[in-house]
Amino acid sequence: MAVRALSNEVRSVCEFETDRLRVAPWHEIAQRLEVDLAQVIARMLTVRATLGLPESWQGEHTVESASDWIDDRDAEASMLLVVESESGQPVGIVVLAEAPISTTEVDIRIGYLIDEDVWGQGMATELVLGLVAWARRRPGIRTVTGGVDPANRGSVRVLEKCGFDPIGPPNTGAHEYQLEIRSPSVESGQSADRRLDE
Ligand SMILES: CC(C)(COP(=O)(O)OP(=O)(O)OC[C@H]1O[C@@H](n2cnc3c(N)ncnc32)[C@H](O)[C@@H]1OP(=O)(O)O)[C@@H](O)C(=O)NCCC(=O)NCCS
Repeated sequence: MAVRALSNEVRSVCEFETDRLRVAPWHEIAQRLEVDLAQVIARMLTVRATLGLPESWQGEHTVESASDWIDDRDAEASMLLVVESESGQPVGIVVLAEAPISTTEVDIRIGYLIDEDVWGQGMATELVLGLVAWARRRPGIRTVTGGVDPANRGSVRVLEKCGFDPIGPPNTGAHEYQLEIRSPSVESGQSADRRLDE
């Protein structure tokens, strides 16, 4: 199944708030906060935080390498920045992509990284619950899926706490966890088409 960046229609509205967090497309939010996105990313992508992540995320980044890294991510996915509302501090990154399930429904694939400085404060759980609530408000999203290395106990726990269940056999060392947002549209595309038009 092909995975691609979010369609423009979904991307343009991928913005939400939770009790403590504001989440929005990373360039937009960096501009609003008047922060240099490359600096923010270089700070967050530490060796420790990226250890179990795909190779392209790993290692230490300078502001220059982070700038290239941002371009690479923009080319393959929809990227969000997570900001702590009270302090205005960026505290995380979200990567979103979509895989079509039918002509009217998609699976949203999520990935996330929380700034080491705020680990253990429930931020990831709050973020993923916020993402799920956002997906429930959007038409056309049937499932949300996160791929996670089983050794990443923190991330597995986050997904479990948010109601995700493991699916299928483990492949390439990573488990997939999925949450059904809405039941498949059984009667054909008609009902789903109507939802997409809402
Ligand atoms: C994994 C990660 C997202 C967790 O973020 P966080 O904000 O610290 O998570 P939370 O505070 O919401 O914790 C949620 C649960 O996970 C547990 N947890 C968090 N980190 C853990 C760890 N390293 N080992 C075991 N459990 C952990 C918490 O105790 C909590 O469970 P509890 O409520 O039962 O006590 C964060 O450590 C991170 O960004 N790591 C690097 C990037 C990464 O791994 N991303 C996920 C890729 S799939």
